[in-house]
Amino acid sequence: MKDTLTITGAAHSDHNHDSAVKHVTGRANYTDDIAMPEGTLHAYLGVSHVAHATLHGLDLSEVLAVPGVVGVLTAADVPGVNDISPTGRNDEPVFPTDRIQFHGQPLFAVVAETRDIARRAAERACIDCTPLPHALDPVAAQEAGYPHVTAPLKLERGDLDAGLAAAKNRIKGRITVGGQDHMYLEGHIAFAIPGEDDDVIVHCSTQHPSEAQHMVAHVLGVPSNAVVVNVRRMGGGFGGKESQMNLFAAVAAMAAKKWGQAVKIRPDRDQDMTATGKRHDFVIDYEVGFDDTGRIEAVGGTFAARCGFSSDLSGPVTDRALFHADNAYFYPNVRLTSRPMKTNTVSNTAFRGFGGPQGVVAAERMIEEIAYATGQDPLDVRKANFYGNEGRDLTPYHQQVEDNILDRLVSELEESADYRARRTEILAYNAGSPVLKKGIALTPVKFGISFTATWYNQAGALVHVYNDGSIHLNHGGTEMGQGLNTKVAQVVAEAFQVDFERIKITKTTTEKVPNTSATAASSGTDLNGMAALNAVEQIKARLVEFACDRWAVPPGAVRFEANRVLIGDEVLSFDAFIRQAYLARVQLSAAGFYKTPKIHWDRDKGQGRPFYYYAYGAACSEVTIDTLTGEYRVERTDILHDVGRSLNPALDKGQVEGAFIQGMGWLTTEELWWDDAGRLRTHAPSTYKIPLASDRPRVFNVNLADWSENRELTIKRSKAVGEPPFMLGISVFEALSMAVASVADYRECPRLDAPATPERVLMAVDRLRRGAA
Ligand code: MTE
Ligand code: HPA
Ligand code: MOS
Repeated sequence: MKDTLTITGAAHSDHNHDSAVKHVTGRANYTDDIAMPEGTLHAYLGVSHVAHATLHGLDLSEVLAVPGVVGVLTAADVPGVNDISPTGRNDEPVFPTDRIQFHGQPLFAVVAETRDIARRAAERACIDCTPLPHALDPVAAQEAGYPHVTAPLKLERGDLDAGLAAAKNRIKGRITVGGQDHMYLEGHIAFAIPGEDDDVIVHCSTQHPSEAQHMVAHVLGVPSNAVVVNVRRMGGGFGGKESQMNLFAAVAAMAAKKWGQAVKIRPDRDQDMTATGKRHDFVIDYEVGFDDTGRIEAVGGTFAARCGFSSDLSGPVTDRALFHADNAYFYPNVRLTSRPMKTNTVSNTAFRGFGGPQGVVAAERMIEEIAYATGQDPLDVRKANFYGNEGRDLTPYHQQVEDNILDRLVSELEESADYRARRTEILAYNAGSPVLKKGIALTPVKFGISFTATWYNQAGALVHVYNDGSIHLNHGGTEMGQGLNTKVAQVVAEAFQVDFERIKITKTTTEKVPNTSATAASSGTDLNGMAALNAVEQIKARLVEFACDRWAVPPGAVRFEANRVLIGDEVLSFDAFIRQAYLARVQLSAAGFYKTPKIHWDRDKGQGRPFYYYAYGAACSEVTIDTLTGEYRVERTDILHDVGRSLNPALDKGQVEGAFIQGMGWLTTEELWWDDAGRLRTHAPSTYKIPLASDRPRVFNVNLADWSENRELTIKRSKAVGEPPFMLGISVFEALSMAVASVADYRECPRLDAPATPERVLMAVDRLRRGAA
């Protein structure tokens, strides 16, 4: 027994990520590190080289002739249903039969003795097809009369037309907002091991093991109980592994069953980038009416997204864009419409923020437009439009904003970042600096927490206490670097009052917790933390009952405290107590469950309470641009972010920093570019620029709003943190916009599309200078 009276890794403490040392020493095991059974085969995808075509057939004789090739898999080899659409729309074949729908679409797989052989052989296919006209982006798709991949959403409150007509000022605009590649360190991978009868075990880098299980079963034509999907950890997911692993899991499983050998599939980075979906890019048309003080009176918006060839998650993604097109602002009259456009590109998918960031960019652009039109500091326009009390607290989807803390949060950041004085200095600097120009922007975030698909807001956990007092923790969430497992283990340690190290964190597997949701929507800890706590409480209730019985004390006399159990005047070590409970035949294992209360959503009406609560934050960024080259750098960023009562401030700060940088990358240097043939030309780090360590803000002050507490009953009153701070990167975009605007004396809001690459900054400067001349 330890003699200290505290436990390690209690809730709200800065405990290290449980795998931190393993991550940095390279000892953490990923799917590719699992020891391969003798005879393991390797699969690789063969892909299309046209964007749209009628497919007549594949001649794979040259592929099969390559020494070391064991065979190929085509659509004809699918034993069950040839579909991996995550929403059951039946619009996403494993391999197509009669139509190619994007450049780089997987058409078949080669299975060979080594990955290198499979990869080289895949190039030797003869694809017999007749090209068709293609539409690559949402505007071209609309012009070509392409359909929506799923029904559009409309959110409406008040009377938009009357509101616009009555407003003294009106601005119409359009912004295009680019997509983003996930660029996880570990790419997609699946490793399948066949078992007897129908059985197959698939190790797969996935945020959604239950979905991979379901898809493999569907494709194999077997019940879900024949398929086990496991993942210990991912080297990043960022939404890209919520549905995109389906293809790899299905191919590995099909091949494993066909050849009766273990099969691994791991695309190289180029194929990972071309064959799997990314963040949706949007073309957003907006119209905003406002009074002379900058108060918004009406907002209309149409959000057209490049969804790619299939629906995938584009319905809920484009919905979430509308849910966040208000960001933090009250729109008295509003009508927002989504246009989820089918295009001949890879099917776009979940990415941190799940469409929300695109909506927030539009809101912030409108604020900037109003600020330039009324000649105000954009921060004042922001503040004037924040959600407020009754009468100014309804969102476009009719949810009441009850927990708004932005007034305080933004004021505190404004002070600590010294925003006003620095803005004054920057205005003076710009007046005297012909080439280098500075900009500063302070932007807020309000992000809705919960899956908008209400049924997804459930979770399960399985906790065992072994009779030596050691604890085995399992839950339905997946670890992708965000620290979910650490936080859930902290909750369990705290509830049992034992040291963190006593808890074994285990791989996520469909065998232990069934029917799980994706670890997504930032709700991993909210859901799985509660489910694990529920399991612990069940075991503790049995233990208390046992103690009352054995030691003849009332329940109030039994206390779990710092690795000990206090029963009346008796003090036992946790281990000794558990041993006694085991000998008395107390059940020391429990399955926990949780479902989020209060939420409901009627998509047809566009009304409800899709979100349990909101997470808030704000960032203030300062940039310098070079108006001769368009190059820039971020001089300083200050962040104040709300995570409620943090379960682990160190991990939460890490999430805030990482999300900010990823958001900044999205809006600055990360540019996806397709050529006219529909071929993605930015398909490797050589042509697609994510932020480097040297791109981080020179001064970077990140703080959590330590006074915040979730007013809803979440796990330990914490708030979700994974996605909301991604949108703090918008402060960099708007700071760049201000620096650009300075070349024309801030007379107009620069037309700046995202990402604001150096080229775009230079072009915007050029346009303004020519306009001014
Ligand atoms: N952090 C790391 N290190 N790696 C990731 O892949 N994914 C993000 C975020 N933070 C991600 C991450 C996304 S998209 C989501 S939805 C959440 O983590 C998911 O985890 P959570 O619900 O446990 O926060
Ligand atoms: N967020 C993230 N992933 C999702 C959602 C969501 O709202 N809905 C379905 N998958
Ligand atoms: Mo995150 S985009 O919800 O996986």
